[in-house]
Amino acid sequence: MAVSEEAILRSELRWAAVVACIVAIILAAILYAAIAMHVNPPSNREYVDPKTLHLSAEFTEANLGTRVDRNGQIVARVIATQFEFVPNCIVLPAKRDVTIRFTSPDVIHGILVTGTNVNTMVVPGYVAQVHTIFEKTGDLLMPCHEFCGLGHSQMLATVRVIPAEQFRPGPDGRIACGDRR
Ligand code: CUA
Repeated sequence: MAVSEEAILRSELRWAAVVACIVAIILAAILYAAIAMHVNPPSNREYVDPKTLHLSAEFTEANLGTRVDRNGQIVARVIATQFEFVPNCIVLPAKRDVTIRFTSPDVIHGILVTGTNVNTMVVPGYVAQVHTIFEKTGDLLMPCHEFCGLGHSQMLATVRVIPAEQFRPGPDGRIACGDRR
């Protein structure tokens, strides 16, 4: 049976419309995730020498954990290493802009904070940085989500989100999980 030229054209246009709809839905989903849910690919590229990061500069042991910088920015610094996080608990306030900076001296790790949009790879040689606002208080689990060796499944930390009014850093701007509040 011969199909008319017109019928073929109509069919092609119908399929083109279906494809255009699918592409529009996918684009809308990407825009919604980026703008409304703040789900974005990592954008900052910062290098750090994994061999010396414990010796000097930002990621020395005394510098790890949460600190309110002089400009009021709340920053937590964490090292992900086989097979633990240092420190393994950080305190952050709810409903405030916070930044968490990670790096690794050994292999690739990954972190996510359960129930939030915080999720990044931690690659040796780079600083992985996330900005977020925690809406709810409580102890949130932060597991490693990239297989990094035999102890991978034991590698987890806690993000303790406390009410902003209880977030009272010491005179040095620092606050840790063991502190009395
Ligand atoms: Cu670190 Cu898996």
